[in-house]
Amino acid sequence: MTQRFIALVPAAGSGARFGGPSPKQYLQLSGRPLMWHTLSTLARVPAIERVVVVLSAQDEWFDSFEWDIDGLEVLRVGGPTRAESVAAGLAALNPQANDWVLVHDAARCCLSVAAVEKLIAELADDPVGGLLALPVPDTVKRADPAGRVSSTLPRTGLWLAQTPQMFRAGVLAEALAGGQDESITDEASAIERIGLKPRLVEGDAANFKVTWPRDLALARAILDARKGG
Ligand code: C5P
Repeated sequence: MTQRFIALVPAAGSGARFGGPSPKQYLQLSGRPLMWHTLSTLARVPAIERVVVVLSAQDEWFDSFEWDIDGLEVLRVGGPTRAESVAAGLAALNPQANDWVLVHDAARCCLSVAAVEKLIAELADDPVGGLLALPVPDTVKRADPAGRVSSTLPRTGLWLAQTPQMFRAGVLAEALAGGQDESITDEASAIERIGLKPRLVEGDAANFKVTWPRDLALARAILDARKGG
């Protein structure tokens, strides 16, 4: 049976931690809006048939930029949380239950085509799906309210979740329909809530999420190095 792969990029966040006059996905980076890099990488993955971006209905920035990404689909159905934006996007794109949906953060703009291809290759026959992630390299501390170490956590078996997170459309819709809950900060946690175990596929550190203004210099350096090389 042929498999269909759809990339779904929630981009309806306001980037509250980042601050600034426009949401971080629209900041200029290497001559393009930050999110252009994200979307154009997904559009260059041959297996991906559709690239769909979910904006907030109030978005007043998207139309002021040139995107020139072939076939890019734009949905203005974002919700108040990431999970609601993904659920609304999923409902609007009307996939078949069996289609694979790769949900990817707009703000992970240094994603590489190779990382997406690795994820697809490792999960295409998986019964559940999974996500790119990185084994935690550092010693992990828990802080007390005074900013002092209250304990050191064993790092064995700890991973940092990245995106894309790849699940069958039907299962993902069912998992997200379980209602809002603060512990659902990514698609995998919604899938875990219905008793399934997403697979971890090792990604790379370049696929970090631009979260704070200080992250921009690193993203710019990575994108410029790729352009040059
Ligand atoms: O805020 P954070 O960086 O964790 O957001 C991750 C992704 O989810 C971003 O691409 C952001 O635009 C998106 N998001 C969304 N709708 C929201 C909140 C976040 O699409 N209500």
